[in-house]
Amino acid sequence: MPTDEQLLGVRAFRLSDDGKTLHLLDQRALPGEERWLEIREVEALALAIESLAVRGAPAIACAAALGLAACAWSFPEEPAGFRAATAAALDRLAHTRPTAVNLFVALRELREGVAAQPPETTAATLRSAIREIAVSHTQRELESCLAMSAHGAPLLPDAGGVLTHCNTGALATAGVGTALGVIRRAYAMGKRIQVFADETRPVLQGARLTAWELHRDGIPVEVIADNMAGYLMSRGEIKAAIVGADRIARNGDVANKIGTYTVAVLCRHHRIPFYVAGPWTTIDASLADGAAIPIEERDALEIHVHGDRRMTPLGVGARNPAFDVTPAELVDGYVTERGVFTAAELRAAIAG
Ligand code: MRU
Repeated sequence: MPTDEQLLGVRAFRLSDDGKTLHLLDQRALPGEERWLEIREVEALALAIESLAVRGAPAIACAAALGLAACAWSFPEEPAGFRAATAAALDRLAHTRPTAVNLFVALRELREGVAAQPPETTAATLRSAIREIAVSHTQRELESCLAMSAHGAPLLPDAGGVLTHCNTGALATAGVGTALGVIRRAYAMGKRIQVFADETRPVLQGARLTAWELHRDGIPVEVIADNMAGYLMSRGEIKAAIVGADRIARNGDVANKIGTYTVAVLCRHHRIPFYVAGPWTTIDASLADGAAIPIEERDALEIHVHGDRRMTPLGVGARNPAFDVTPAELVDGYVTERGVFTAAELRAAIAG
């Protein structure tokens, strides 16, 4: 049996020992270059999230929280000024990426944690409180991933192809990963899994990040273009699919990286199990169904331009929704830190 330590994978962010700098692995530069950003200001933190230097639902939340702890060193020493700067920072961070709900969970924990301190609390104490909340949020996300991997690994086949979409690994979380954490543990347990990583147009999180992470950890991976999965399924080369989630509504509908819905439909047609792995922080019990999930529309340039080359004729428009919604009826199992649920069981657990 693999130890938790063996499953960890790369760390995408780290708060410096003095707490004044957030070190962020710049995921835009991968796989070509391992470049680290040093974040000390709120605007730099917000831009890093918006530009996908850090991405993946749990990682965005952890980086925002730890980043705020670092940025808080530049806030005024006078308590009211410190609180005002914190409120402005939380507001700026809440306007970076709308779909992943984990970010809003972390921001709420920070807002409530600061509000709970008496009015005369010094900036130094408020700063420590923010750091404590951020570290605890990150630790819980890591523990959730480890638990998810243990619950989910038995679902995967003992041998054969497993399809995944986008990047849900250590890069997208506090370490280990959600769907990729499940794959990582299944492989470490001795399952002879061949991962197929959808390239995940237009930003190529699968081709650049999932392939980089798995290759680095010695797990067999082949990248496929997003339109190849159906063919491989029709040939029996894919035995299961597992993806992450950015937000899960009360009825079990799942928002995840654009293209996930297509994978789920293909799986149902081919009678291949389709699993979603996500921590409980990904569930948004305030939303009845997926139609209410805010879907981020990103800059059309991500579609028009590939590398330094324009791929579409000038004057032609493009759409760029970054996420889609997979209806609960297409999900065969939700892997969470609390166990594996069917849609009906998940609904009951959320309601209860
Ligand atoms: O736009 P991204 O790269 O942040 O999208 C990431 C995804 O869609 C992941 O599948 C999701 O956040 C779950 S990751 C653990």
